[in-house]
Amino acid sequence: MFFHSLKTLVKKNSLLWGKDVADAYHGAASRDMNAHWSVFVQPVLDRHPINFTRSIDFACGYGRNTDKLLELADHVTMIDVNQENIEHCQKKYAGNPRTSITECNGYDLRNVASETCTFFYTFDSMVHFPPEIVKSYLPEFYRVMSPSGYAFIHHSNYTQAGPKKDFRQNPHWRNYMSAEIFADLARAAGFTVVEQTFHDWGVPNLDCISLLKKA
Ligand SMILES: C[S@@+](CC[C@H](N)C(=O)[O-])C[C@H]1O[C@@H](n2cnc3c(N)ncnc32)[C@H](O)[C@@H]1O
Repeated sequence: MFFHSLKTLVKKNSLLWGKDVADAYHGAASRDMNAHWSVFVQPVLDRHPINFTRSIDFACGYGRNTDKLLELADHVTMIDVNQENIEHCQKKYAGNPRTSITECNGYDLRNVASETCTFFYTFDSMVHFPPEIVKSYLPEFYRVMSPSGYAFIHHSNYTQAGPKKDFRQNPHWRNYMSAEIFADLARAAGFTVVEQTFHDWGVPNLDCISLLKKA
């Protein structure tokens, strides 16, 4: 996939969660965070010896997951493609030495140094990403992680509409992806797939959480 096609995909798909949905998405999601964490996140974290010391909250939005990760980590780096969300987090976490914020281009992590993150985390974001973008990011996730680090990735498990269909027509705007396709892409990037759990999100097994490990 050429970079110009990825850039076009980012323009079309990735900039839908900024100020326009400040309350409709970010406010509502933040009010649901504790419930989401205890149902979807905590059970996976409890099963594995994760080193949270330097965590990344990827596609962080307004930082509701960062707030939870800060209970576990020494430092959290927030990454997002949307400048409005970056600016929101810069204000929200101004003066907090345990956080940093990095804007990305929507398809790689060229601004993040290699092997600097002990735990890579992303929730409620990659469920919407086109498969080409997921494929482009996975080797980058691997690169920025320290050896033996774990990655917690919440992604779509929806294949009923083809990959070319507008994802906004799909239930809960899930993009085309399956647990099997994701596992193949993760292994091709170098990861071991430690576990995959399926979750209902209005639709049975609509989502999957994959826990990956870097060798
Ligand atoms: C539905 S919001 C979820 C935000 C946050 N993870 C949460 O749970 O509140 C999706 C987030 O993904 C970001 N995003 C979308 N496409 C992206 C891409 N290609 N690369 C990085 N971030 C992206 C958006 O800017 C937005 O902040």
